[in-house]
Amino acid sequence: MTSSRELTLRASRLRRASAPPVPTPDGGGPWVLEAQAISHTYPPARRHGSPVQALEDVSFAVRRGTFVALVGPSGCGKSTLLRILAGLIRPTRGQALLEGEPVTRPQRRIGLVFQQANLMPWRSVRDNIALPLELAGVPAAERAARADALITAVGLAGFADAFPAELSGGMAQRVAIARALISRPEVLLLDEPFAALDALTRERLSLDLLRVWAAHGQTILLVTHNISEAVLLADEILVMSARPGRIVAHVPVALPRPRTLEMLYSAELGRIAGQVRAAIAPGLIP
Ligand SMILES: Nc1ncnc2c1ncn2[C@@H]1O[C@H](COP(=O)(O)OP(=O)(O)OP(=O)(O)O)[C@@H](O)[C@H]1O
Ligand SMILES: [Mg+2]
Repeated sequence: MTSSRELTLRASRLRRASAPPVPTPDGGGPWVLEAQAISHTYPPARRHGSPVQALEDVSFAVRRGTFVALVGPSGCGKSTLLRILAGLIRPTRGQALLEGEPVTRPQRRIGLVFQQANLMPWRSVRDNIALPLELAGVPAAERAARADALITAVGLAGFADAFPAELSGGMAQRVAIARALISRPEVLLLDEPFAALDALTRERLSLDLLRVWAAHGQTILLVTHNISEAVLLADEILVMSARPGRIVAHVPVALPRPRTLEMLYSAELGRIAGQVRAAIAPGLIP
C-alpha cells in the first residue's frame, strides 16, 4: 500500500522533473529543504515609496544532513530567504518545501537562530532553552533533562542557573542555538548567528556548532558574510548576487572532516574562498 506521504514525495519528485531546482554539484538526494523559483517583493514602506524586490527566482535543494552556507552582499535578501524557508513570510512567487511539502507557517521541524540571541532576561539559561518545550506542553522533568543535555552539548556546563545578564555575547548565542535545537528540528536555519562576536569567540563557537551538528545530524543552512567561515564549516556554499538576490554559484567544499582551525590557513581553503569571492564580485578577481 502507498502512504499519502509517499504520494506527496512522489508528486514532489514529479514537480522536480518538470522544474528542477539548480542541482547540487555532486547530485543525489534525498532533498530535505528546497527553494523553488522563489521571488519576493516587499510593498512600499511609505506612501510614495517604491516596492523593493529582494529575491528573484531563487531555486536550490539541500540534501539531508548536509551543512550549507549562504553568502552574499549585504541587503541581497539572505534574511528574507531564511524567513521564507522558516515559514515566517510568504514569498510573492515560488515556494519553500520541507520534504516535498510546502512551508506555509513556522513549524517545529525547522529551527531558526538570529544574529541577536533575544533571550528572556528574567529566565535562567535552562528555562530560556526549555521555553519551546514549555509552550508545547512537555512535562517539567523532561524539559529540564533535555535542556541540561543541550547545555553541556553547546559548552555551557555550569551555567544552567545563570541569567542572560551574566552571559557574554558568545554564551548568549550558545543559549539561542540550544533553544533552537531543543525541539529536535530536522533543519536548522542560522542567520549570521556569530556576527556580533569577536573573531576568536566566533571561531570557537563555529567549531562547537560543527561538533553539535556531527552529533545530532541536522541539516544546517547558515547565512554568513564571512567567506572563510563558510568554507571552514560547509559542505557546499550557495553564493547570492546583489539585490535582487539570485543564486549565482554553488561551490562544493571538499575539505575533509573533522574541520580544524588550521584549515583556515590552508591553500585549499584559500582556493575555494577565492572561487566564492569571484562569484560574488566577478571582475574584481582575475
Ligand atoms: N520588512 C521589510 N520591508 C521592506 N523592505 C524590506 C524588509 N525587510 C528587508 N527589506 C529590504 O529587502 C532587501 C533585502 O533585505 P534582507 O534583510 O533580506 O537582506 P540581507 O541579505 O539579509 O542583508 P544583510 O546582509 O545586511 O543582513 C533590502 O533592500 C531591505 O531593505
Ligand atoms: Mg540579513
